[in-house]
Amino acid sequence: MTRDIYTEPSPVDVDTLANLGPLRPLAGVWQGSRGLDVKPKAEGPKKQAYVERIELQPIDPVTNGPQLLYGLRYYTHITKPDNVKTYHEQVGYWLWEPATGTVMHTLTIPRGQVAMAAGSASPDATEFTLKATQGLETWGICSAPFLQEAFRTTDFIIKVAINADGTWSYEEDTVLQILGQEEPFHHTDRNLLNVKLAEPTPNPLARGLPR
Ligand code: HEM
Repeated sequence: MTRDIYTEPSPVDVDTLANLGPLRPLAGVWQGSRGLDVKPKAEGPKKQAYVERIELQPIDPVTNGPQLLYGLRYYTHITKPDNVKTYHEQVGYWLWEPATGTVMHTLTIPRGQVAMAAGSASPDATEFTLKATQGLETWGICSAPFLQEAFRTTDFIIKVAINADGTWSYEEDTVLQILGQEEPFHHTDRNLLNVKLAEPTPNPLARGLPR
């Protein structure tokens, strides 16, 4: 018998906020002012404090044939403290597959680079770790030619923690193989999202439901 890759699950609960598993505490608009970045400079690693605003909004449920995903679309904007100029920005999705307990994180950064990390978690997990590895066909990393040659990203790992007071934090390690250097460089970032600026806006299908 051939595997059915077309039939969608039915019925599907259209309320994304009620089906986000471990991602539920992340939903909303957040600010964190205690970010710390370690970045590569010609003279060596350089530390930089940063301020971040991240918006994570629920999207309608997604079906790939029988696969069902719930998710948040995010946009993060980072500056140095008291600065207007963008220091880093990132867009993508945080996705949750209830059937397999998989968390996925897609990230696009305006350096000509995309990555997709994944990890396993229980629906009520308060900590989860995701990983992307360059060269893999899934959960991989893809860079435009300059970065691939000069600052090759070989691994990306992000650990998320949901704190008891409702805030959340992350620690990530972007491992770079820099042209002319023997040892890999650990470009690390961490922040605590401690100010909730706004609650999430329910996904379009959920907004269409009679209350
Ligand atoms: C909060 C998160 C992040 C911040 C604040 C940040 C910030 C920066 C900054 C300021 C630089 C430039 C260093 C310089 O030349 O002055 C840099 C370099 C770089 N970042 Fe990030 N980054 C973050 C996350 C990431 C992630 C997630 C990736 C990829 C998965 C990434 C990939 C790179 C690469 C490949 C470079 C080398 C390019 C270069 O130095 O010309 N970064 N980052």
